[in-house]
Amino acid sequence: MIEFPNVINCDGFNLEKVEPSFDVAKYLFNIVDSQREYLGKWLIWVEKSNKPEDMYDHLNKASKTNNGSYYIVLDGKIIGSVGLGIISETHKIGEIGYWLSKDYNGRGIMTNAVKTLSDFGFNTLGLDRIEILVDTENRASQAVAERAGFEKESVSRHSFILHGKSRDNIVFVKFRKGLENA
Ligand SMILES: CC(C)(COP(=O)(O)OP(=O)(O)OC[C@H]1O[C@@H](n2cnc3c(N)ncnc32)[C@H](O)[C@@H]1OP(=O)(O)O)[C@@H](O)C(=O)NCCC(=O)NCCS
Repeated sequence: MIEFPNVINCDGFNLEKVEPSFDVAKYLFNIVDSQREYLGKWLIWVEKSNKPEDMYDHLNKASKTNNGSYYIVLDGKIIGSVGLGIISETHKIGEIGYWLSKDYNGRGIMTNAVKTLSDFGFNTLGLDRIEILVDTENRASQAVAERAGFEKESVSRHSFILHGKSRDNIVFVKFRKGLENA
């Protein structure tokens, strides 16, 4: 079974697993609640997170799965999240998702986090393929995927519903070294 460590070091910050607690839930809820428009524009779960208890339930559920859900910790403070979900252990496929507090945009933090977590997925977990699914209009996230070395593979049309509307996702992919042109 795939195992994720509690901490992964990046250059200048850490990716850390967080033990579910109501204090952490309240802290995360405050970030989300104060940035509803910015985060909720692209993240489906934001509109379902209406009180700290919702965040607490989410933390509890995430801690029970075998996915790599990490918080980005800079100077001891959570500033965002990045996760590597295992889509298929048999077929060695993972998927990365992320968000960053608005106050920390524009410094390359997410690009660095996605590069580090994908390297971990290939080199330590032995994955062959990692995907990032990005709304066709989410330019900032597309730029993160591209800067982290992912390539556009295809568009999944009408593949999810956001704010009541059917949306298209670009499928970005990166492969284990050696598989790129195989
Ligand atoms: C997507 C999201 C994480 C991107 O955040 P971001 O700050 O633009 O991304 P990064 O942390 O990688 O920073 C990149 C920016 O820092 C700049 N930068 C500075 N130093 C850098 C460095 N060393 N390396 C890379 N970029 C650097 C880049 O030029 C870029 O700036 P630009 O957008 O003006 O060109 C953020 O917009 C977000 O959380 N959005 C809401 C949630 C969301 O959309 N999640 C993704 C769903 S698929």
